[in-house]
Amino acid sequence: MSMATTAEVTPPDAGAVEARVRDLLARMTLSEKIGQLSQVNAPWDGEDLPEDFAEAIRRGWIGSVLNAVGVEQVNEMQRIAVEESRLGIPLLVGRDVIHGFRTVFPIPLGQAASWNPELIREGARIAAREAASTGINWTFAPMVDIGRDPRWGRVAECLGEDPLLASRLGAAMVQGFQGDDLRADDAIVACAKHFAGYGASESGKDYAATNIPERELREVHLPPFRAAVDAGCQTLMASFSDLDGIPATANHFLMTTVLRDEWGFDGFVVSDWDSIHQLAIHGLTGSDRESAYEAAMAGVDMEMASRCYIEHLERLVEEERVPLERIDQMVANVLRVKFRAGAFESPYRDSALFPALGNDEHRAAAYESAVQSGVLLKNDHGTAGPTLPLDLDALDRIAVIGPLTDAPGEQLGTWIFDADASISTPPLASLRDACDGRCEIEVVRGLETTRDRRHDAFPAAVAAAQAADVALLFVGEDAILSGEAHCRADISLPGAQEALIEAVAATGTPVVLVIMAGRPLALESVTGFVDAVLYMWHPGCMGGPAIVDLLTGRRNPSGKLPITLPRVTGQIPIYYAHRRTGRPPTPESFVYIDDIPPHAQQLSIGNTSFHLDVWFRPLFSFGHGMSYTDFRYERLRLERDSVEIGQPVRVFVDLVNEGDRPGVEVAQLYLHDQVASVTRPVRELKDFQRVELEPGERRTLEFLLPPEAFAFIGRDMKPRVEPGRFSLWVGRDSDATLRVELELTRETRA
Ligand code: NOJ
Repeated sequence: MSMATTAEVTPPDAGAVEARVRDLLARMTLSEKIGQLSQVNAPWDGEDLPEDFAEAIRRGWIGSVLNAVGVEQVNEMQRIAVEESRLGIPLLVGRDVIHGFRTVFPIPLGQAASWNPELIREGARIAAREAASTGINWTFAPMVDIGRDPRWGRVAECLGEDPLLASRLGAAMVQGFQGDDLRADDAIVACAKHFAGYGASESGKDYAATNIPERELREVHLPPFRAAVDAGCQTLMASFSDLDGIPATANHFLMTTVLRDEWGFDGFVVSDWDSIHQLAIHGLTGSDRESAYEAAMAGVDMEMASRCYIEHLERLVEEERVPLERIDQMVANVLRVKFRAGAFESPYRDSALFPALGNDEHRAAAYESAVQSGVLLKNDHGTAGPTLPLDLDALDRIAVIGPLTDAPGEQLGTWIFDADASISTPPLASLRDACDGRCEIEVVRGLETTRDRRHDAFPAAVAAAQAADVALLFVGEDAILSGEAHCRADISLPGAQEALIEAVAATGTPVVLVIMAGRPLALESVTGFVDAVLYMWHPGCMGGPAIVDLLTGRRNPSGKLPITLPRVTGQIPIYYAHRRTGRPPTPESFVYIDDIPPHAQQLSIGNTSFHLDVWFRPLFSFGHGMSYTDFRYERLRLERDSVEIGQPVRVFVDLVNEGDRPGVEVAQLYLHDQVASVTRPVRELKDFQRVELEPGERRTLEFLLPPEAFAFIGRDMKPRVEPGRFSLWVGRDSDATLRVELELTRETRA
């Protein structure tokens, strides 16, 4: 047996697949059909498959398993399915392969900070290859929920706050997992989740209800799913969340009207874990049988973990409540994916044919991903120039402080079932290598974990900082503080980290914060004290070398925020593409709480849209990220200032690297529709480009805005484009000021 890679396999013939689906369906009993709709958690930790489980596979009662670990066990399950069940239908073997498998890449939100679809595609390719070698043929990724509430623990898994960015990066992940051909041995089926709206869970609390108006759903939350489907994603997962009274798992509008009728999706939808059973807990149904009915009729094809389908669908068919044709559609959707995935042709995996897990090449890719995910938020100039990059030859002594200095497991972040922390390199190890023979380092963690509240070790940390030329503080969040069901009501630095930073900064030694976290943190109370801030998210197993190379300038930071960083938790939700309101805040109208006269009664203070106790802008805006070189944008221009609806628009801008080192800039194009029949966000990202420029180099960038870029969801909930004036900015972040105006005119063609 030899391994076929995705580049070597020719795509399957759609007609042949449909014929095989029909043929198989015609030979299946109702019980075998319902078996294909059931996904069961793998029941054992050891070697032997329990007989009742083996028997269930043999009888065709299981269509998919999840969390099976180890290629021998998976091959054995496949053998029973293929050789001992009546129809020999192979299993889909699912697993949460979210940001790498053995080789852990940055959390998805970190990867999104690269704004680099190719890099993300390559990361998913490697994750797929590693996972496939253990028998997995289906991952529950990418998560393309829009994250606009960093209290939500799952913001770590998302690709940011913006629909265009999440669409491009999510599609790239799908392509990476599924490869050029899904039948190749190293390809795995992707699953775009959680359909839909999960990111809008109330107060950022997992599993909470969502209330999303249809326009926002269509403009913000659905586009990344559409992009995943268009990229060939074969499965979607229904969300746990309630959407305006109809939980996503029972939501016909989402799973049938939008997904099947409007988008023409022909893969399958899996529920989330137990989410069909939970329909009764939501209070939508009174029993598992009713839950099975609701989910099946709404559009969930396969049930994960709970047993509503396996126990009740047969009866529902007999009672003629669920038509047999509906069951056949559901089964056909599942079988189609199994055929497309080549599961019938090659159900087994031989791990010896795959590259070793966690090998050097894979770790080199994880390193590159971590480098590109790093966002330089702040870099003050001292008397001797900017704080970063550090010149190790010019420093005598560095103080290395903070709970994440040497925490190989924590820097991996959430969803790391298959990781190996022993191949995770923390910053301390990499710093020791880099400093060897050049400068001294003194290490004082200061706090045991990021949640530690004790100040006992502060004096040692302060002494180390006093004796050093620079203090590096590795702070943030332990891995356990983000991910599913790990939400926070206060997203400032946990434990006594703020106090530690303050104490160290009080020494007067320059302080560099390196933040590793599963979410945007509210950092207003500390960024003022420090000289530089490098935001690394949870950077994965190569975090250490990536951080050190960024700090020392071996690599030039290029990451850009894929999500807004609020000043304080109470600003949430805060995102760049908000609506303007009738009373937008201005610096002149803003009134700060300390400036209100004593004993003031009801008086007019500003009367614009702001909080009294925090400046109305975020701490760091969407798209922000600095470099060690200086980029300048100039000569923003349009091919024509007036364009007919339906025509594309060409936009040009000159980008110059004015600094003294090569660098990568992510040029971002934003648009605003000035007057429309529905109020529009103040700006919307419409395109971006990663551009590498040598010192002194100037390049003209060209963007091509397609006619759809000007569309929005009208009052009738359908896309429309209206004539009128648009503002257009290109620049380094969502605050870009270089602007041109465009007139969109009515179509003159009949
Ligand atoms: C529940 C999570 O919501 C989902 O994202 C995950 O894929 C499943 N559990 C399976 O682990």
